Amino acid sequence: MTPCGDLHRPALVAIHAAAFPPAEQWADKAMAEILAMPGVFGFIENRGGMILARAVAGEVEILTLAVAPQARRRGIGRALVAQVASATPGQPIFLEVAADNAAGQALYRTAGFLECGCRRDYYGPGRDALILRR
Ligand SMILES: CC(C)(COP(=O)(O)OP(=O)(O)OC[C@H]1O[C@@H](n2cnc3c(N)ncnc32)[C@H](O)[C@@H]1OP(=O)(O)O)[C@@H](O)C(=O)NCCC(=O)NCCS
Repeated sequence: MTPCGDLHRPALVAIHAAAFPPAEQWADKAMAEILAMPGVFGFIENRGGMILARAVAGEVEILTLAVAPQARRRGIGRALVAQVASATPGQPIFLEVAADNAAGQALYRTAGFLECGCRRDYYGPGRDALILRR
């Protein structure tokens, strides 16, 4: 598990593309813009995992979490979330997860996140986002 930045951009794009369907993948330009945003930090796992988060004004938002299919169910996702929490002790962590993303929700719930809101149609018509907080 290594802190990541713009130098890791090709690997971050590749892991994200392996984990998400085409419509949700972040291309190189989008990844570059996100990495350049104030407060953004993250970690990369060399078996095929990445997480990006943003710490602003005492709150943390997980922007994306991706584990490549062949690397799943080995605790990598859980470890990436724990790494973000360790890097921001005492700060509340928020994220959005699709209401139909069972794996993502299961991971976050086992990591202690609770639902605190819902954004209707956030991922497109009929695809709501749940807002989770820890
Ligand atoms: C969600 C995701 C990050 C999980 O990564 P992972 O490395 O496989 O997760 P972990 O191995 O750390 O799993 C931790 C716990 O989460 C839960 N979990 C993870 N995947 C699950 C699944 N497919 N079904 C049910 N529970 C699941 C389990 O409780 C698991 O613990 P266990 O394996 O001891 O039962 C991965 O499936 C992924 O990249 N999905 C596509 C992108 C995505 O949905 N990102 C999150 C929303 S932004």
